[in-house]
Amino acid sequence: MMNHNTGEIAIIVALDEQNAIGRDGDLLCHLPNDLKHFKQITTGHTVIMGRKTYESLPKGALPNRTNIVITSDHAENYPGCIVARSVEEALTHCKEDEKVFIIGGGKLYHSSLHLADQLYLTRIHHTFADADTFFPEIDFEEWNLIDIEPHETDEKHPYAYTFLTYTKK
Ligand SMILES: NC(=O)c1ccc[n+]([C@@H]2O[C@H](COP(=O)([O-])OP(=O)(O)OC[C@H]3O[C@@H](n4cnc5c(N)ncnc54)[C@H](OP(=O)(O)O)[C@@H]3O)[C@@H](O)[C@H]2O)c1
Repeated sequence: MMNHNTGEIAIIVALDEQNAIGRDGDLLCHLPNDLKHFKQITTGHTVIMGRKTYESLPKGALPNRTNIVITSDHAENYPGCIVARSVEEALTHCKEDEKVFIIGGGKLYHSSLHLADQLYLTRIHHTFADADTFFPEIDFEEWNLIDIEPHETDEKHPYAYTFLTYTKK
């Protein structure tokens, strides 16, 4: 039997007003402040991702983080990463005091939302018509909003966006 005595499990995601998260294997848009926010929050911790999200990373494994990729593929195809076959197996690689971030994509979010203690959402205030990958519906009755940080558009950010942090009730 697998046991996962991890510390906190957090999900981090950027999603549009309809919960869209991706298109053609890539993100919906480029928001430099969101990438900075992602780096700042996840650095020094463990990140768990699906195989397609790994394939979307321009330089492979994310630096200064323990990277775990979930796939049925061979481990040697994922340099610098631990490979696991399931979320449960991924969590067996994590220690009790380790903060773990589930970083996508859609398939992995769908199979792990019920495990999360924290949500770091970047809500992009736009609806992308051509999205093909979505975050599952969130029942906000189950979550306490603990932090909210709105940002307007500017020359580098074509859409307004809000950083929202929730903890599970
Ligand atoms: N907006 C955001 O914050 C954000 C974040 C991350 C990704 N994305 C976007 O999301 C899209 C990718 O998402 P996706 O749903 O297509 O793929 P994904 O979840 O990244 O990867 C799917 C693959 O990962 C493995 N996998 C995932 N969950 C699994 C589970 N519970 N059990 C066993 N295997 C599992 C399987 O690999 P095998 O087929 O190899 O067995 C599966 O085919 C891209 O467009 C990406 O840019 C957006």
